[in-house]
Amino acid sequence: MSVKIHFLPDNITIEAEPGEPMLQVAERAGVLIPTGCLMGSCHACEVELGDGSTICACISSVPIGTKELTINLYDDPVW
Ligand code: FES
Repeated sequence: MSVKIHFLPDNITIEAEPGEPMLQVAERAGVLIPTGCLMGSCHACEVELGDGSTICACISSVPIGTKELTINLYDDPVW
């Protein structure tokens, strides 16, 4: 029942548990998602999903009922 999480642009794929916090998954993958407020308001942690929508990683977790998920970190020098 694990979910395959695919991080771009680093091209790292790891297994995660449904409901596991995104930041925790990223940390386990060795991917650094920048964070600020950790409350969903500053958008420092914003990442793009495979379908083009953006989420704040700090308040997101691995969706239940998904088999795989692509997470695209912005290559933005500001953050
Ligand atoms: S760290 Fe501020 S919105 Fe996630």
